[in-house]
Amino acid sequence: MKNRTILSLALVFSLILLLAIAATSVSASPSADAAQIEHGKYIASIAGCPICHTPYKAEYQNPAALTPEQIQTLAFNESNALDQNKLLAGGRVFPLGPIGNLLTRNLTPDKETGLGSWTDEQIRLAMQTGVDHHGKILFPVMPYHVYNGMADADVETVIAYLHSVNAVKNEIPERTISTEGMQALPLKTGTTAPDASDKAARGAYLVNSVMGCTDCHTPVDAATGAPQMDKYLGGGQPYEGPWGIVYGGNITPDNKTGIGTWTDAEVKRALMTGVRKDGRRLILMPWFGYSNLSSEDADAVVYYLKNVLPAVNNEVPATSLNQGFEQMAPAEPNQAAAANGAMSPAVLVIVGIGVILLVSLVVYVLRRKSA
Ligand code: HEC
Ligand code: HEC
Repeated sequence: MKNRTILSLALVFSLILLLAIAATSVSASPSADAAQIEHGKYIASIAGCPICHTPYKAEYQNPAALTPEQIQTLAFNESNALDQNKLLAGGRVFPLGPIGNLLTRNLTPDKETGLGSWTDEQIRLAMQTGVDHHGKILFPVMPYHVYNGMADADVETVIAYLHSVNAVKNEIPERTISTEGMQALPLKTGTTAPDASDKAARGAYLVNSVMGCTDCHTPVDAATGAPQMDKYLGGGQPYEGPWGIVYGGNITPDNKTGIGTWTDAEVKRALMTGVRKDGRRLILMPWFGYSNLSSEDADAVVYYLKNVLPAVNNEVPATSLNQGFEQMAPAEPNQAAAANGAMSPAVLVIVGIGVILLVSLVVYVLRRKSA
């Protein structure tokens, strides 16, 4: 009789535990749509769409009224200056010197001021060929030359993600800078994303067609402004500001002038936490987008940079930093991606309940035995 009670109790507990586990695994496997949106969010984050297309918080909008701390935030971790309540709503300003200010556009699904009335094909053409829905050429601060090589499936998921974000009403004034004479790129279709198991191809794809390192790391011809493709990712572009002057680094595997002597871990740390080999915090380098990289993708990027990319011998001038900008990183940099592998709260609760049930079963059995 006693044994049968224990047995049936054990059965009931195991059943509850099994049901609980089944319930979490069902809720944890999202529908195809949700999985698509999640993937699109990932691609968009490493491609930098939210960084360029989200406006600054109000207190960062007037460049003349910035505090020294705010200027440091903009230099070291611009993501903290973005107004997350207006995610992807456009209006971030790119000052282009004498030709004027360029504003990013509203990518949220708002019908009047965003992409709400665009077709998917129109969004795709803007992303990959640089033509907007009126047939006008976009100014190439928008990196369509990078996304031109993006895989069809990745483009589709980015568009699905854009449809899923909150619609924000934010009217962006018409562009005042002319793009007349600029060329649209031909649309490439049928491109597929290499698998993570092919590190060289996956890394090349991410660096060249998704993350767009080239815009800041390839030197440009002073006369024409065209990137010098024979020095691809060879660095040396100057970026002057309140911090002093920094140069996009030579991120090719050249031993003397590039990252040839950096360890894989050092390259990964620079990429994902914005810390140089010597421990100095990098200025203007958008690591906060890349900190979302999955560990497989991060390894592929590092592999490509260190083992596949042709080495370019190009000495980058020494930086000259103003006071307050020579910051060294803390000894243990925050690992923004550390939470990636953690269990979700729901799973933790269910596992917790399971453990409590098991413990009470054991206690029950022991009590019975000693009674
Ligand atoms: C380096 C900054 C930057 C990044 C990164 C960036 N964009 Fe843009 N984007 C711009 C700018 C600037 C414009 C406006 C160009 C113009 O007005 O000529 C623009 C325009 C657009 C437009 C045209 C919208 C319209 O109303 O005309 C679309 C669509 C777009 N971007 C989508 C994206 C997507 C999707 C991503 C990420 C995969 C992305 N952008 C990443 C800067 C950026
Ligand atoms: C918005 C411009 C921008 C983009 C995009 C960008 N970087 Fe950088 N990066 C910089 C700047 C500027 C520096 C130098 C900053 C300094 O010295 O403080 C830098 C520095 C680096 C360094 C350190 C190099 C050295 O010699 O100190 C590495 C490594 C690096 N970037 C990798 C990448 C990779 C990989 C990508 C693409 C996935 C990328 N960056 C995209 C602006 C950028």
